[in-house]
Amino acid sequence: MTAQAPDWPAHGGRIAPLLARCGLPADHPVIDFSANLNPLGPPAWLPDRLAAAGEALSRYPDPDDDHARRAIADHEGVAPERVLVTNGGAEAIYLAAALHAGGRALVVEPGFGEYARACRHYGLDVVSLPLRGEAFRLDLEAALHALDGVDVAFLCRPHNPTGTLIPRADVELLLARAHATGTTLVVDEAFIDFTEGDERLTPWLDGTPHLLLLRSMTKLYDLPGLRLGYLLGAPDRVRRLAALQMPWSVNALALSLVAPLLADRDYLARTRAWLAAERAAVPAAVRDLGFAVPPTQANFFLLRGGPDAETSESLFAFLLHRGLLARHTHGFAGLDGAWLRLALRGAADNARLIEALAEWRRA
Ligand SMILES: Cc1ncc(COP(=O)(O)O)c(C=O)c1O
Repeated sequence: MTAQAPDWPAHGGRIAPLLARCGLPADHPVIDFSANLNPLGPPAWLPDRLAAAGEALSRYPDPDDDHARRAIADHEGVAPERVLVTNGGAEAIYLAAALHAGGRALVVEPGFGEYARACRHYGLDVVSLPLRGEAFRLDLEAALHALDGVDVAFLCRPHNPTGTLIPRADVELLLARAHATGTTLVVDEAFIDFTEGDERLTPWLDGTPHLLLLRSMTKLYDLPGLRLGYLLGAPDRVRRLAALQMPWSVNALALSLVAPLLADRDYLARTRAWLAAERAAVPAAVRDLGFAVPPTQANFFLLRGGPDAETSESLFAFLLHRGLLARHTHGFAGLDGAWLRLALRGAADNARLIEALAEWRRA
Protein backbone atom coordinates (compact mmCIF):
# COMPACT_ATOMS: atom_id res chain seq x y z
CA MET A 1 0.00 0.00 0.00
CA THR A 2 1.31 3.44 -0.93
CA ALA A 3 2.26 5.73 1.94
CA GLN A 4 0.83 9.24 1.93
CA ALA A 5 3.24 11.48 -0.01
CA PRO A 6 4.59 14.34 2.12
CA ASP A 7 2.77 17.67 1.70
CA TRP A 8 -0.26 16.05 0.10
CA PRO A 9 -3.12 16.09 2.64
CA ALA A 10 -4.90 12.76 3.11
CA HIS A 11 -8.41 14.17 2.50
CA GLY A 12 -10.13 16.49 0.05
CA GLY A 13 -11.30 19.95 1.07
CA ARG A 14 -7.93 20.96 2.61
CA ILE A 15 -7.15 24.07 0.63
CA ALA A 16 -4.46 25.94 2.61
CA PRO A 17 -1.58 23.41 2.34
CA LEU A 18 -2.21 22.93 -1.37
CA LEU A 19 -2.18 26.66 -2.08
CA ALA A 20 1.10 26.89 -0.18
CA ARG A 21 2.51 23.95 -2.13
CA CYS A 22 1.71 25.67 -5.43
CA GLY A 23 3.16 28.98 -4.27
CA LEU A 24 -0.24 30.69 -4.16
CA PRO A 25 -1.38 33.14 -1.45
CA ALA A 26 -3.76 31.92 1.27
CA ASP A 27 -6.52 34.22 -0.05
CA HIS A 28 -6.32 32.91 -3.64
CA PRO A 29 -9.98 32.38 -4.63
CA VAL A 30 -10.77 28.71 -5.05
CA ILE A 31 -13.69 26.64 -6.25
CA ASP A 32 -13.38 23.35 -4.37
CA PHE A 33 -13.73 20.30 -6.63
CA SER A 34 -11.74 18.21 -4.16
CA ALA A 35 -14.47 17.42 -1.58
CA ASN A 36 -17.46 15.49 -2.91
CA LEU A 37 -20.17 17.62 -1.35
CA ASN A 38 -23.55 18.70 -2.64
CA PRO A 39 -23.09 22.12 -4.34
CA LEU A 40 -26.70 23.04 -3.46
CA GLY A 41 -25.41 23.71 0.06
CA PRO A 42 -27.28 22.61 3.20
CA PRO A 43 -31.10 22.92 3.13
CA ALA A 44 -32.21 26.57 3.46
CA TRP A 45 -34.20 25.90 6.67
CA LEU A 46 -31.13 24.66 8.53
CA PRO A 47 -29.86 27.87 10.19
CA ASP A 48 -33.28 28.57 11.80
CA ARG A 49 -33.50 25.02 12.98
CA LEU A 50 -30.01 25.13 14.45
CA ALA A 51 -30.82 28.35 16.31
CA ALA A 52 -33.99 26.76 17.72
CA ALA A 53 -32.07 23.65 18.81
CA GLY A 54 -29.48 25.72 20.69
CA GLU A 55 -30.94 25.04 24.14
CA ALA A 56 -30.23 21.33 23.63
CA LEU A 57 -26.55 22.18 24.06
CA SER A 58 -26.94 22.72 27.78
CA ARG A 59 -27.97 19.07 28.25
CA TYR A 60 -26.20 15.79 27.56
CA PRO A 61 -27.72 13.94 24.60
CA ASP A 62 -30.20 11.53 26.22
CA PRO A 63 -29.17 7.92 25.48
CA ASP A 64 -32.78 6.83 25.93
CA ASP A 65 -34.11 9.32 23.39
CA ASP A 66 -34.16 7.27 20.20
CA HIS A 67 -35.95 9.89 18.13
CA ALA A 68 -33.15 10.08 15.54
CA ARG A 69 -32.81 6.33 15.39
CA ARG A 70 -36.53 5.91 14.78
CA ALA A 71 -36.51 8.56 12.07
CA ILE A 72 -33.76 6.63 10.27
CA ALA A 73 -35.57 3.32 10.79
CA ASP A 74 -38.79 4.77 9.30
CA HIS A 75 -36.89 6.29 6.41
CA GLU A 76 -35.11 3.01 5.65
CA GLY A 77 -38.07 0.73 6.33
CA VAL A 78 -36.20 -1.30 8.98
CA ALA A 79 -36.64 -1.95 12.70
CA PRO A 80 -34.95 0.63 15.00
CA GLU A 81 -32.86 -2.23 16.45
CA ARG A 82 -31.06 -2.37 13.12
CA VAL A 83 -29.88 1.25 13.33
CA LEU A 84 -26.90 2.85 15.06
CA VAL A 85 -26.48 6.63 14.68
CA THR A 86 -22.79 7.55 14.38
CA ASN A 87 -20.49 10.53 14.42
CA GLY A 88 -20.25 10.62 10.62
CA GLY A 89 -19.56 7.71 8.32
CA ALA A 90 -16.01 7.83 9.65
CA GLU A 91 -17.04 6.64 13.12
CA ALA A 92 -19.06 3.85 11.51
CA ILE A 93 -15.91 2.66 9.72
CA TYR A 94 -13.89 2.72 12.95
CA LEU A 95 -16.62 0.84 14.84
CA ALA A 96 -16.74 -1.85 12.13
CA ALA A 97 -12.96 -2.22 12.45
CA ALA A 98 -13.14 -2.25 16.25
CA LEU A 99 -15.66 -5.10 16.12
CA HIS A 100 -12.95 -7.23 14.49
CA ALA A 101 -9.93 -5.92 16.41
CA GLY A 102 -6.85 -8.09 15.94
CA GLY A 103 -8.35 -9.94 12.97
CA ARG A 104 -7.86 -9.76 9.23
CA ALA A 105 -9.43 -7.21 6.88
CA LEU A 106 -9.88 -6.94 3.14
CA VAL A 107 -9.94 -3.55 1.40
CA VAL A 108 -10.29 -2.71 -2.28
CA GLU A 109 -7.69 -0.42 -3.83
CA PRO A 110 -7.67 2.34 -4.86
CA GLY A 111 -10.15 3.03 -2.04
CA PHE A 112 -11.06 5.38 0.79
CA GLY A 113 -8.00 5.44 3.04
CA GLU A 114 -9.91 5.34 6.34
CA TYR A 115 -10.78 1.62 5.98
CA ALA A 116 -7.12 0.59 6.15
CA ARG A 117 -6.29 3.29 8.71
CA ALA A 118 -9.15 2.18 10.99
CA CYS A 119 -8.17 -1.47 10.64
CA ARG A 120 -4.54 -0.82 11.48
CA HIS A 121 -5.65 1.28 14.43
CA TYR A 122 -7.41 -1.80 15.82
CA GLY A 123 -4.54 -4.16 15.02
CA LEU A 124 -6.08 -5.88 12.01
CA ASP A 125 -3.92 -7.28 9.21
CA VAL A 126 -4.99 -5.55 6.02
CA VAL A 127 -5.07 -7.42 2.73
CA SER A 128 -5.79 -5.40 -0.38
CA LEU A 129 -7.52 -6.30 -3.62
CA PRO A 130 -6.70 -4.19 -6.69
CA LEU A 131 -9.43 -3.00 -9.06
CA ARG A 132 -8.73 -3.88 -12.70
CA GLY A 133 -7.81 -1.66 -15.62
CA GLU A 134 -8.80 1.90 -16.35
CA ALA A 135 -12.48 1.05 -15.83
CA PHE A 136 -11.58 -0.03 -12.26
CA ARG A 137 -13.60 -3.25 -12.33
CA LEU A 138 -13.79 -5.53 -9.32
CA ASP A 139 -12.34 -8.93 -10.23
CA LEU A 140 -15.17 -11.05 -8.84
CA GLU A 141 -13.28 -14.35 -8.85
CA ALA A 142 -10.34 -12.78 -7.03
CA ALA A 143 -12.69 -11.06 -4.56
CA LEU A 144 -14.55 -14.30 -3.76
CA HIS A 145 -11.26 -16.06 -3.22
CA ALA A 146 -9.87 -13.19 -1.12
CA LEU A 147 -12.65 -13.52 1.47
CA ASP A 148 -11.10 -16.74 2.80
CA GLY A 149 -9.76 -16.16 6.30
CA VAL A 150 -10.97 -12.55 6.35
CA ASP A 151 -12.99 -11.24 9.31
CA VAL A 152 -14.20 -8.01 7.76
CA ALA A 153 -14.26 -6.79 4.15
CA PHE A 154 -14.97 -3.23 3.06
CA LEU A 155 -16.74 -2.45 -0.21
CA CYS A 156 -17.83 1.01 -1.28
CA ARG A 157 -20.90 1.58 -3.52
CA PRO A 158 -20.53 3.78 -5.49
CA HIS A 159 -16.82 3.47 -5.06
CA ASN A 160 -14.63 6.33 -3.88
CA PRO A 161 -12.41 7.48 -5.62
CA THR A 162 -13.46 5.92 -8.95
CA GLY A 163 -17.22 6.64 -8.93
CA THR A 164 -17.81 3.15 -10.34
CA LEU A 165 -20.61 0.92 -9.06
CA ILE A 166 -19.94 -2.73 -8.21
CA PRO A 167 -22.86 -4.62 -9.82
CA ARG A 168 -25.53 -5.82 -7.41
CA ALA A 169 -25.16 -9.37 -8.74
CA ASP A 170 -21.49 -9.35 -7.70
CA VAL A 171 -22.33 -8.09 -4.21
CA GLU A 172 -24.93 -10.84 -3.92
CA LEU A 173 -22.32 -13.50 -4.68
CA LEU A 174 -19.83 -11.88 -2.31
CA LEU A 175 -22.45 -11.84 0.41
CA ALA A 176 -23.17 -15.54 -0.04
CA ARG A 177 -19.45 -16.23 0.15
CA ALA A 178 -19.09 -13.97 3.22
CA HIS A 179 -21.81 -16.04 4.88
CA ALA A 180 -19.76 -19.19 4.25
CA THR A 181 -16.44 -17.67 5.40
CA GLY A 182 -17.96 -15.89 8.41
CA THR A 183 -16.81 -12.52 7.07
CA THR A 184 -18.61 -9.28 7.94
CA LEU A 185 -19.24 -7.52 4.63
CA VAL A 186 -19.32 -3.77 5.15
CA VAL A 187 -20.84 -1.91 2.22
CA ASP A 188 -20.11 1.79 2.50
CA GLU A 189 -23.05 3.62 0.93
CA ALA A 190 -21.79 7.13 1.74
CA PHE A 191 -22.58 8.23 -1.85
CA ILE A 192 -25.63 6.02 -2.46
CA ASP A 193 -28.12 8.91 -2.70
CA PHE A 194 -26.30 10.10 -5.80
CA THR A 195 -26.73 6.97 -7.93
CA GLU A 196 -29.13 6.80 -10.81
CA GLY A 197 -32.11 4.85 -9.43
CA ASP A 198 -32.30 3.33 -5.97
CA GLU A 199 -29.20 1.19 -5.40
CA ARG A 200 -29.47 0.94 -1.60
CA LEU A 201 -29.02 -2.59 -0.31
CA THR A 202 -31.28 -2.01 2.72
CA PRO A 203 -33.84 -4.64 1.63
CA TRP A 204 -31.07 -7.26 1.79
CA LEU A 205 -30.54 -6.80 5.52
CA ASP A 206 -33.23 -9.35 6.31
CA GLY A 207 -31.66 -12.78 6.40
CA THR A 208 -28.06 -11.59 5.84
CA PRO A 209 -26.54 -11.16 9.30
CA HIS A 210 -23.09 -10.62 7.79
CA LEU A 211 -24.07 -7.44 5.97
CA LEU A 212 -23.37 -4.02 7.51
CA LEU A 213 -24.44 -0.93 5.59
CA LEU A 214 -22.70 2.31 6.32
CA ARG A 215 -24.17 5.72 5.58
CA SER A 216 -23.02 9.31 5.79
CA MET A 217 -25.25 12.38 5.93
CA THR A 218 -22.23 14.53 5.08
CA LYS A 219 -22.17 14.33 1.31
CA LEU A 220 -25.82 14.64 0.38
CA TYR A 221 -26.59 17.53 2.74
CA ASP A 222 -23.23 19.31 2.46
CA LEU A 223 -22.70 19.01 6.22
CA PRO A 224 -19.13 17.77 6.79
CA GLY A 225 -18.85 19.82 9.98
CA LEU A 226 -21.95 18.32 11.60
CA ARG A 227 -20.59 14.72 11.76
CA LEU A 228 -23.63 12.57 11.15
CA GLY A 229 -23.89 9.06 9.77
CA TYR A 230 -25.34 5.66 10.63
CA LEU A 231 -24.90 1.93 10.43
CA LEU A 232 -27.56 -0.61 9.49
CA GLY A 233 -27.20 -4.28 10.33
CA ALA A 234 -28.46 -7.29 12.23
CA PRO A 235 -29.77 -6.30 15.70
CA ASP A 236 -27.20 -8.33 17.66
CA ARG A 237 -24.33 -6.90 15.63
CA VAL A 238 -25.72 -3.38 16.03
CA ARG A 239 -25.85 -3.94 19.80
CA ARG A 240 -22.20 -5.03 19.81
CA LEU A 241 -21.22 -2.01 17.75
CA ALA A 242 -23.16 0.30 20.08
CA ALA A 243 -21.23 -1.12 23.04
CA LEU A 244 -17.98 -0.03 21.34
CA GLN A 245 -19.18 3.53 20.76
CA MET A 246 -17.99 6.41 22.94
CA PRO A 247 -20.65 7.90 25.21
CA TRP A 248 -22.40 10.96 23.66
CA SER A 249 -20.57 10.32 20.44
CA VAL A 250 -23.22 12.08 18.36
CA ASN A 251 -23.94 15.60 19.55
CA ALA A 252 -27.39 16.98 20.37
CA LEU A 253 -27.55 19.37 17.39
CA ALA A 254 -26.74 16.59 14.95
CA LEU A 255 -29.33 14.30 16.56
CA SER A 256 -31.99 17.01 16.36
CA LEU A 257 -31.43 17.38 12.61
CA VAL A 258 -31.77 13.74 11.56
CA ALA A 259 -35.57 13.69 11.23
CA PRO A 260 -35.97 17.01 9.38
CA LEU A 261 -33.11 16.22 7.01
CA LEU A 262 -34.57 12.85 6.09
CA ALA A 263 -38.04 14.37 5.69
CA ASP A 264 -36.85 16.96 3.15
CA ARG A 265 -37.82 15.11 -0.03
CA ASP A 266 -37.73 18.32 -2.06
CA TYR A 267 -34.02 18.74 -1.32
CA LEU A 268 -33.36 15.21 -2.56
CA ALA A 269 -35.41 15.82 -5.72
CA ARG A 270 -33.51 19.05 -6.46
CA THR A 271 -30.22 17.27 -5.88
CA ARG A 272 -31.15 14.50 -8.26
CA ALA A 273 -32.24 16.96 -10.95
CA TRP A 274 -28.97 18.91 -10.67
CA LEU A 275 -26.86 15.77 -10.69
CA ALA A 276 -28.61 14.04 -13.61
CA ALA A 277 -27.86 17.01 -15.87
CA GLU A 278 -24.24 17.50 -14.78
CA ARG A 279 -23.33 13.82 -14.70
CA ALA A 280 -24.68 13.35 -18.22
CA ALA A 281 -22.69 16.32 -19.53
CA VAL A 282 -19.41 16.78 -17.67
CA PRO A 283 -17.60 13.39 -17.78
CA ALA A 284 -18.51 13.10 -21.48
CA ALA A 285 -17.14 16.58 -22.22
CA VAL A 286 -13.91 15.73 -20.36
CA ARG A 287 -13.59 12.46 -22.31
CA ASP A 288 -14.08 14.43 -25.53
CA LEU A 289 -10.99 16.43 -24.57
CA GLY A 290 -9.05 13.15 -24.66
CA PHE A 291 -8.83 12.36 -20.93
CA ALA A 292 -9.57 8.84 -19.66
CA VAL A 293 -12.63 9.04 -17.35
CA PRO A 294 -14.11 5.83 -15.90
CA PRO A 295 -17.93 5.56 -15.87
CA THR A 296 -19.29 7.22 -12.74
CA GLN A 297 -22.43 6.63 -10.69
CA ALA A 298 -21.40 9.18 -8.06
CA ASN A 299 -21.19 12.95 -7.72
CA PHE A 300 -17.52 12.92 -8.76
CA PHE A 301 -15.29 11.43 -11.42
CA LEU A 302 -11.67 10.48 -11.97
CA LEU A 303 -9.59 11.68 -14.85
CA ARG A 304 -6.16 10.55 -15.93
CA GLY A 305 -4.11 13.71 -15.89
CA GLY A 306 -1.31 12.19 -17.95
CA PRO A 307 1.04 9.23 -18.22
CA ASP A 308 2.57 9.83 -14.80
CA ALA A 309 2.21 11.65 -11.50
CA GLU A 310 4.43 14.50 -12.66
CA THR A 311 2.13 15.42 -15.55
CA SER A 312 -0.88 15.21 -13.26
CA GLU A 313 0.83 17.42 -10.71
CA SER A 314 1.39 20.01 -13.44
CA LEU A 315 -2.28 19.80 -14.38
CA PHE A 316 -3.24 20.07 -10.71
CA ALA A 317 -1.17 23.26 -10.35
CA PHE A 318 -2.47 24.62 -13.67
CA LEU A 319 -6.05 24.20 -12.42
CA LEU A 320 -5.30 25.66 -9.00
CA HIS A 321 -3.74 28.75 -10.57
CA ARG A 322 -7.10 29.18 -12.31
CA GLY A 323 -8.91 28.85 -8.99
CA LEU A 324 -10.00 25.21 -9.45
CA LEU A 325 -8.98 22.76 -6.72
CA ALA A 326 -8.85 19.09 -7.78
CA ARG A 327 -8.31 16.11 -5.45
CA HIS A 328 -4.83 14.69 -5.94
CA THR A 329 -4.56 10.90 -5.80
CA HIS A 330 -1.27 10.47 -3.97
CA GLY A 331 -1.82 7.84 -1.35
CA PHE A 332 -4.42 5.93 -3.42
CA ALA A 333 -2.64 2.71 -4.42
CA GLY A 334 -3.10 2.11 -8.15
CA LEU A 335 -3.63 5.81 -8.87
CA ASP A 336 -0.43 7.10 -7.28
CA GLY A 337 -0.93 10.70 -8.29
CA ALA A 338 -1.38 10.02 -12.02
CA TRP A 339 -5.14 10.66 -11.76
CA LEU A 340 -7.17 13.54 -10.39
CA ARG A 341 -10.61 13.29 -8.79
CA LEU A 342 -13.13 16.04 -9.41
CA ALA A 343 -16.50 16.63 -7.76
CA LEU A 344 -19.43 17.56 -9.95
CA ARG A 345 -20.52 21.07 -9.05
CA GLY A 346 -23.05 23.53 -10.40
CA ALA A 347 -23.24 24.15 -14.16
CA ALA A 348 -21.24 27.41 -14.13
CA ASP A 349 -18.37 25.93 -12.07
CA ASN A 350 -18.30 22.80 -14.21
CA ALA A 351 -18.15 24.93 -17.37
CA ARG A 352 -15.10 26.74 -15.92
CA LEU A 353 -13.47 23.40 -15.22
CA ILE A 354 -14.07 22.12 -18.76
CA GLU A 355 -12.75 25.36 -20.22
CA ALA A 356 -9.58 25.11 -18.11
CA LEU A 357 -9.05 21.47 -19.15
CA ALA A 358 -9.51 22.48 -22.80
CA GLU A 359 -6.94 25.25 -22.30
CA TRP A 360 -4.51 22.72 -20.81
CA ARG A 361 -5.01 20.53 -23.87
CA ARG A 362 -4.35 23.46 -26.22
CA ALA A 363 -1.21 24.54 -24.34
C1 LIG B 1 -16.39 6.50 0.97
C2 LIG B 1 -16.50 7.33 2.20
N1 LIG B 1 -17.04 6.80 3.30
C3 LIG B 1 -17.16 7.50 4.44
C4 LIG B 1 -16.71 8.79 4.50
C5 LIG B 1 -16.83 9.53 5.81
O1 LIG B 1 -17.87 10.41 5.76
P1 LIG B 1 -18.24 11.32 7.03
O2 LIG B 1 -17.86 12.72 6.68
O3 LIG B 1 -19.72 11.15 7.18
O4 LIG B 1 -17.49 10.81 8.19
C6 LIG B 1 -16.14 9.40 3.38
C7 LIG B 1 -15.65 10.79 3.43
O5 LIG B 1 -15.00 11.29 2.55
C8 LIG B 1 -16.03 8.65 2.19
O6 LIG B 1 -15.50 9.16 1.09
